[in-house]
Amino acid sequence: MSDGHRRVRVDSVTKLFPNAQGGTFTALQDVTFDVGDFEFLSIIGPSGSGKTTLLRILGGLEFPEHGAVVIDEAEVRGPGRERAIVFQDFALLPWRSVLGNVVFPLELRRVAKGERDRRAHEAITLVGLAGFEDYYPNMLSGGMQQRVGLARALAVEPEVLLMDEPFGALDAQTRTVLQDELLQIWERDRKTVVFVTHDMAEAVFLSDRVLILSANPGTVHRVVTVELPRPRLDELRRTAEFADLVGDVWETLQTLTR
Ligand SMILES: Nc1ncnc2c1ncn2[C@@H]1O[C@H](COP(=O)(O)OP(=O)(O)O)[C@@H](O)[C@H]1O
Ligand SMILES: [Mg+2]
Repeated sequence: MSDGHRRVRVDSVTKLFPNAQGGTFTALQDVTFDVGDFEFLSIIGPSGSGKTTLLRILGGLEFPEHGAVVIDEAEVRGPGRERAIVFQDFALLPWRSVLGNVVFPLELRRVAKGERDRRAHEAITLVGLAGFEDYYPNMLSGGMQQRVGLARALAVEPEVLLMDEPFGALDAQTRTVLQDELLQIWERDRKTVVFVTHDMAEAVFLSDRVLILSANPGTVHRVVTVELPRPRLDELRRTAEFADLVGDVWETLQTLTR
């Protein structure tokens, strides 16, 4: 699966958008950071700080005016087979079953049918949906729908998993269950993960580092290293060390949200 050397470098990325007044708006300015092999990095920041834009640039769906994203020495020029994205709104195809949704990107990538089905079943099992292959999205809870979104990304066997507030639409209970499951999958598969969230506890619980963006324009304000032991178990959420780190991120975000 992973070649063990994949890493991401975001180098002086500046992204402009046209604004309503006919001028330009700087969504991201001179954003530089990198993500190590198998690192779990979260990006947090006020709304409008460019989190989604940054993730879309990493995914090759959007392009910066200045700077570049480099993955393993190769500049990102579009979507690639080493990256997969999980979206907040799940983005499932309602007319396709669970299996149909999970194989869809493999069809686009012209993966042979036998291999497609093997990978899809493996990913569906990994996210705990074995037995639900023939269900349609509208028959599933939000948590199950996002498990399909995750399985669809995992079936691509990406080395870099890009996630944009994937649990943002879920209730608190389902959200913590999926966080635990995601960490188990990540620990098993050792992927590089870039995870956008606006939930501070989520960022701290999951990550090796939390990158805090400030808004107008989006810039890297601070990077917090999370030195909590792994595997991260649910009990960790109730420890003083965890609360201290969340408090630290909270205070920083307070200064950015006026
Ligand atoms: N396609 C677009 N055209 C114009 N402005 C955009 C576009 N996409 C995003 N923006 C603007 O860029 C800023 C950052 O947006 P976004 O990346 O969605 O932020 P976040 O995900 O942190 O809330 C916002 O001010 C938003 O209005
Ligand atoms: Mg966003």
